[in-house]
Amino acid sequence: MSFEPNNVLITGGAGFIGANFVRHWLDTTQQGKVVVFDALTYAGNIENLAGLDKNLRYVFVRGDICDEAVVRQLLEQHRIDTIIHFAAESHVDRSILGPDDFIRTNVVGTHSLLKAAKSLWIDQKTVAAHRFHHVSTDEVYGSLGPEDEPFHEATPYAPNSPYSATKAGADHLVRAYHETYGLDTTVTNCSNNYGPYQFPEKLIPLIIINILHGKPLPVYGDGMQVRDWLHVADHCEAIALVLRHGMSGEVYNVGGNSETTNIDLVHGLCAVVDDLVTTRDELSVAFPGAPAAEGKQAKSLVRHVRDRPGHDRRYAINFAKAKRELGYCPQRDLAAGLRSTVEWYLENAQWWQALLGREYTEWVNKNY
Ligand code: NAD
Ligand code: DAU
Repeated sequence: MSFEPNNVLITGGAGFIGANFVRHWLDTTQQGKVVVFDALTYAGNIENLAGLDKNLRYVFVRGDICDEAVVRQLLEQHRIDTIIHFAAESHVDRSILGPDDFIRTNVVGTHSLLKAAKSLWIDQKTVAAHRFHHVSTDEVYGSLGPEDEPFHEATPYAPNSPYSATKAGADHLVRAYHETYGLDTTVTNCSNNYGPYQFPEKLIPLIIINILHGKPLPVYGDGMQVRDWLHVADHCEAIALVLRHGMSGEVYNVGGNSETTNIDLVHGLCAVVDDLVTTRDELSVAFPGAPAAEGKQAKSLVRHVRDRPGHDRRYAINFAKAKRELGYCPQRDLAAGLRSTVEWYLENAQWWQALLGREYTEWVNKNY
């Protein structure tokens, strides 16, 4: 059975993955409104959606997903039949320093959306068919040992950070609204994303930008933690597949087949930036602090710093179900994807330079 979304509400559409998805959806569909609903927190950035206001199908609304009345009004006003729910507090380090916002947005906010959707779609039957897609994370499954089997959809939940605990809580609420009220839901649990528009508190953009300024590269603990990196465009394609072809009430794991230790990833980024700065003269002029501008290697900037409390050692994803049932397969190779991401950050320096005055990143190690 297939479902074709018409008018979609995209929560968190001004964030990293949400903005990539909004662009992907507008590029790959011909009809239906695309209503982006985002509170524009420190992580939300209207510049991530620059240029889209010329598109007559696109509407941006600033607001909070905890505000159920506004959500209801949007669902009614735009005859929304599909919610794609990205909005969240998403950074693990911040959740350790202050869990409250995570509980509010990730748990209470998700419940507010579910209540509004149930009220209109189930109780009032305002649309003939509907779908609530919840974007979740592999972190709900906890941490793997080196020899453990990758996470699959039936792996028991064992969240270790306040962030992952709130995402797990949201996943359970989505499941409950399907089982109890018959809401048509799907969930994706995805691994670490990278690509354009990622806020520079996350590992990959943080490392790229610090190299360009010749600043230390903070690697937590021994740097041997493993993540399965996925290009954000592959994640967007997976979500679109699940929206259209996923079974109601089902969960799909999405991964990149690219397990890498943090230290290898950081060294790889150092090599890419060194290569680009060495071979393109204009980059040494624009970023004179980059080690390669003075003939040095960026990896000399690596500093092993205090580890993240409760740091998950390894994530790995078994995405056989999404492959078998939906034909999902990641298309972008990690090495090529990292290089194109570094190039995006070099070509879009004004995008991240505008963020450096805002709450940025180095507070983390100072505050633990
Ligand atoms: P992000 O932090 O870049 O963006 C989150 C967006 O949500 C921001 O635009 C922010 O303004 C908005 N937002 C926050 N609180 C809100 C509220 N109360 N009401 C409305 N909007 C609010 O996050 P991201 O990295 O793009 O992640 C998006 C989703 O994907 C999250 O649910 C996250 O848990 C999930 N996820 C992320 C990754 C990853 O690697 N980044 C991997 C798997 C799953
Ligand atoms: O696995 C999916 C998750 O990936 C998402 O659910 C989260 O929203 C997203 O933030 C991401 O979580 P991580 O904690 O894995 O991502 P982050 O970029 O913060 O860190 C990646 C790894 O790098 C992690 O092991 C911690 C480490 N790290 C991170 C930072 C910011 C460092 O060693 N140094 C750093 O400065």
